[in-house]
This record gives sequence, structure tokens and C-alpha cells, in this order.
Amino acid sequence: MPTFFHRDFLCIGHRGFPSAAPENTLRGFELAISAGADALELDVQWVDGGLIVIHDDDLDRTTSGTGRVDAATLGHLRSLDAGGGERIPLLEEVLERVAGRVPINIELKGPGTAGPTVDLLRARAEPTAGILLSAFDHRELEVARSAAPEYPRAALFGRLDRDPVAAAREVGAIAVNVHRRSARSALVKAAQEAGMATLAYTVNDPKEALALRRIGVAGIFTDCPDVMLNTPGLR
Ligand code: G3P
Ligand code: CA
Repeated sequence: MPTFFHRDFLCIGHRGFPSAAPENTLRGFELAISAGADALELDVQWVDGGLIVIHDDDLDRTTSGTGRVDAATLGHLRSLDAGGGERIPLLEEVLERVAGRVPINIELKGPGTAGPTVDLLRARAEPTAGILLSAFDHRELEVARSAAPEYPRAALFGRLDRDPVAAAREVGAIAVNVHRRSARSALVKAAQEAGMATLAYTVNDPKEALALRRIGVAGIFTDCPDVMLNTPGLR
């Protein structure tokens, strides 16, 4: 297994550390690392020639702006307050700041994001072990695989309307990333038998995290890595 999975069970800071700092910001990522998160998760979108780190389609919830992200210019996006004076970071800035201290799960949001993302990773010679690419839209994973097969991929699922293990295998994924309620033992076992890990999102209840670990889930995306890291028996 590539070293994204560098422990038996991973507590992954979901969008950084959103219970302590604005989501998808450099401050949040830094705090998550300080708290001991095993890895980070972030959302990236390709907008106006830039890879920006933001989750929503709209600016309203997380920034001082309004309207659609994909209708904004890069200059405008970069002028906004993403919480507490933080800017919306570029993916490159996050990679620079994290500097390989922990692996990063880069979730590819929106069409056309995979190509520029893997171009950036290659241009920076980012070690493959420090990266896990994921997407709900598996066409983005196919683009990533064609352009840069060396970067590991995880197939991300919302509703399970098809066999997730088969779908993950189709895109050559090393992990199946599912909603916490979909992370059942049969799925986890089937993924393991196919040589894949299962990650569950978004888990903020320590008891649920322990139960997921017991059935073989390899890690959780959590908004509160501090709580999880202080949960006896989880790691
Ligand atoms: O990758 C796990 C999780 O982040 C997916 O859902 O909506 O938080 O991006 P969302
Ligand atoms: Ca995400």
C-alpha cells in the first residue's frame, strides 16, 4: 500500500480543521498538522486559470463574496476573505506550506480540474506517496490516470447506486471513499479482498469512529481531528 496509508488507521483533517479554523485555509491546514492529523483533505476547483481550494459552488457560505465560484475571476477570488482574514488558497500554496509533512487527499471538484492538478503535481515533482486524488466524478479520475498514472486515486461515492468496489477498480483506485453510513462491513471486506482501503466521511463522533475502525475502515475524514486523536483505542 502506498504511504498515504502510513498508519493502521488515519484521522484525516476534513478541509483542514473546520471546528477550529476556517475550512480549506492555510491556517486550518496548519492547525490540523499541529493537532497531529495523519493527513489532510481539501477540495480543489479549476477556475479562471487557477487551482483554488474551496468546497462549494458558491462563495456565500465560506467567503466574504457572493455568487458562483466559476463565474468569478481569479483576481476577485483571491481578494476575498475566506474567514478570519484568510484568503482562498491556491493548491500550490497549500503544497508549499504543507511541504510533505503529512499526505494530502486532493478532492477534484468540478470539470476540468484533474488535468491542471496533475500538471502541477508533476511540475513540482510532488512525491506520489504524499498524494491521494479523489473525485465523485470518476471521469476526472480517468483524466488523472491517463495524464499521470503514478499519483494514487480514490473513488469517491455519494449514494451507492452501483457496486463501489467494481467502480473503484475500473478507475484503478487504491481506496473507496464513502459516506460514513455506507461504510458497512461487507463493503469494507469486499474492498479489502480487491486490495483497496475504505475511508469514511465525515465522522465526528468518536464512538462511530471506533466502530468503523473495528470493521476494518482504514481511516476517517473528520472536522475535529483533536477529538479523534484523543479518543482511546482509535490509533
Ligand atoms: O472526500 C470526503 C468528503 O470531503 C467528501 O464530501 O462534500 O465534504 O467534499 P465533501
Ligand atoms: Ca471534500
